[in-house]
Amino acid sequence: MRTQVGIVGAGPAGLLLSHLLHLEGIESIVVETHTRRHVEERIRAGVLEQGTVDLLNQSGVGGRMRREGLIHHGIELRFNRRGHRIDLFELTGGRAITVYGQHEVVKDLIDARLQADGQILFSVDQVSVHGFDGKSPSIRLRSAGEPLEIVCDFIGGCDGFHGVCRPSIPADALRNYEKVYPFGWLGILAEARPASEELVYSNHERGFALLSMRSPVLSRVYLQCRPDEELEEWPDDRIWEELQLRFQTDEGFRLNEGRVVQKGVTAMRSFVAEPMQYGRLYLAGDAAHIVPPTGAKGLNLAAADVRILSRAMANWYRNRDGGLLERYSQLCLRRVWRAQHFSWWMTSMMHRPDGGSEFDHRRQLAELDNVTTSRAAATNLAENYAGLPFEVI
Ligand code: FAD
Ligand code: DHB
Repeated sequence: MRTQVGIVGAGPAGLLLSHLLHLEGIESIVVETHTRRHVEERIRAGVLEQGTVDLLNQSGVGGRMRREGLIHHGIELRFNRRGHRIDLFELTGGRAITVYGQHEVVKDLIDARLQADGQILFSVDQVSVHGFDGKSPSIRLRSAGEPLEIVCDFIGGCDGFHGVCRPSIPADALRNYEKVYPFGWLGILAEARPASEELVYSNHERGFALLSMRSPVLSRVYLQCRPDEELEEWPDDRIWEELQLRFQTDEGFRLNEGRVVQKGVTAMRSFVAEPMQYGRLYLAGDAAHIVPPTGAKGLNLAAADVRILSRAMANWYRNRDGGLLERYSQLCLRRVWRAQHFSWWMTSMMHRPDGGSEFDHRRQLAELDNVTTSRAAATNLAENYAGLPFEVI
């Protein structure tokens, strides 16, 4: 098979790249190891920055998001049994976030690609990438048991943190930066009316907790746990009991409880591979960088990367101008490192380190006090959380 851009991975990065390239008149084929159903049902991130929302709307895939997404103008930081609202909208001059599940974005993108006769090969295996140091890269795989080779001009490495693209780059051509955190998040999806209209980030002496949602009747709630926490140790009753403690306020706040329909543990790390490119292989999204989820940045960074990559490729096809492609990594990394700092900072302000000292806790409370009483500090949080404007290219 031959196409212009071969894309590995049908997550948000790969699908959005394929969609944006299509709008530029560039053909692509996406290959994905999992089934369509699996990628459409995988519950992950839920917060879209204003820029991501604008990008989805401008590229014509925002219809259902506009109908079903929940627009939030603020978030709550909770500590010392009291809530403090950060007014994102007012502090950023009118930016907001939209709560809309990553799997819904994935569904919308798959629909758009298939309606435009785009090719996505699901359930493939033995994927490998070749020849990207020359002019004719290729992706080899097995599809329905048959070997297949896709020859292309460029490869989009959008296969997430555990994919094959990044490890296929010679090790001495990449520099990796990594930080692993001594905690994880236990996340649940529950059939329960969210007890707050806006997200609540709670710093509690028993550990961090976050109340989010997927709809007016579905709560998405996380609690800090060990990175290797065994789910069997967390029957639903214990989860609710622990969550009620971590969200307690002097006003008697209670979460609404309901049937838990999904449960999982995510370990937390910060990671960046530099540069995000080798020859004609371009890494985007989690394949190139990971952030701890506290800043809600992972999915948004993936969207920002492929926005730049699609424009850089369009410039190459249209004008044979490779200037933007050459600057791809540099253009992305500035935003990536800003998000790395923000995500690390939010994580360090909100989580209780195992064996953490009382000094650390007091320092966190002082920081939260600052962020909730100083307009300058709150503005900094709001600008980063609602999302920095996209790079002008
Ligand atoms: P992915 O979504 O990982 O997509 C990569 C795709 O490539 C996958 O479909 C995978 O199956 C496929 N693939 C992998 N290897 C191959 C191969 N060899 N060949 C072909 N296809 C391959 N962010 C938040 O902001 N908040 C959260 O709560 C949150 N929770 C998360 C929970 C989990 C378990 C994980 C893993 C991530 C979470 N994230 C969260 C991060 C966020 O979801 C990611 O940043 C986002 O998914 C990045 O999109 P992506 O397309 O780059 O990667
Ligand atoms: C959600 C996930 C996050 O990581 C976050 O910071 C906020 C919300 C969510 O899944 O809804």
